[in-house]
Amino acid sequence: MNTQLQDLVNQAREQFAASPSAAELENAKARFLGKSGAITALMKDLAKLSAEDKRAQGAEINLAKQAIEQALQARRDALAEAELQARLAEQAIDVTLDGRGQRRGGVHPVMRSWMRIESIFRSIGFEVAEGPEIEDDWSNFTALNSPQDHPARSMQDTFYVDLDDARGQPLLLRTHTSPMQVRHARAHVQRHQGSAAMPDIRVIAPGRTYRVDSDATHSPMFHQFEGLWIGENVSMADLKGVYTAFLHAFFERDDIELRFRPSYFPFTEPSAEIDMMFDSGPLRGRWLEISGAGQVHPVVVRNFGLDPERHIGFAFGSGIERLTMLRYGIGDLRQFYGSDLRFLEQFDAA
Ligand code: PHE
Repeated sequence: MNTQLQDLVNQAREQFAASPSAAELENAKARFLGKSGAITALMKDLAKLSAEDKRAQGAEINLAKQAIEQALQARRDALAEAELQARLAEQAIDVTLDGRGQRRGGVHPVMRSWMRIESIFRSIGFEVAEGPEIEDDWSNFTALNSPQDHPARSMQDTFYVDLDDARGQPLLLRTHTSPMQVRHARAHVQRHQGSAAMPDIRVIAPGRTYRVDSDATHSPMFHQFEGLWIGENVSMADLKGVYTAFLHAFFERDDIELRFRPSYFPFTEPSAEIDMMFDSGPLRGRWLEISGAGQVHPVVVRNFGLDPERHIGFAFGSGIERLTMLRYGIGDLRQFYGSDLRFLEQFDAA
């Protein structure tokens, strides 16, 4: 190969090596092998030569061309390899990291209480009923002796839904489980219509309830369970007996005192707040409010479809979070809904 051709090959090698990307490499290639590239120009010049010189020169130019093509291919391969390595490095997976795996789930502490409450009340002869979380105005308020525009309704700041019920009243997220008193009692009465003696209504209704309320001891969504016992001779003394037995079973201890403090609810008369106190332990000696309760108001008994002269009984509504906080000594209700596994896992074996 003559020195002119050798120079050309060296130039090509240098320029290819200096091309940092595939695009720049293609530009460099064009300068040698393209239509107006150096090698192409030499080929064209061959036309002017004699047949003999043509052959000799042509062979040399071909050698140079092959050398340049080889250099080009080598550089192309090197660039592709570099790009691959860069991509691999960027997408590297650290196979030594722990996987997510599958972990054993647990029952949420509030659900754990819910289940305990159901089984305790079942064991003393109560049915368990569940009702809708989106309620109609009549069941949540009116049937419970809170007429439209009655100021007692403002005891509860309510989430209304932008939809009307069949009576043209707005639907709402139930503010308490008390509407289940009415739903269950009416169904019970209907079921026993025409039979000689109606069995007592004895039910608890646990579930989610909603109020515009949020701090360390109030959450806009919380859980309650309603209790209702209606018969022909059911008194506040029965309420005290049932609720005392429930608390002893729920807390698994007997050193608990109860106090019935006069209160007001539109749907009970008389009404009471049930307070409890532990006789030992860290909460010893402090009265803690745990439930609303009372004798079911005659207006409500009538809305059950019963005669208040003949049927009488009690109802109560208790917060499940509150009972759970007392059972486990939890200070902030919001921990129940923080989804912090370090908190939740503590109750797995409880
Ligand atoms: N529904 C009442 C509340 O949520 C509690 C209650 C239930 C009071 C039953 C009396 C009888 O505050």
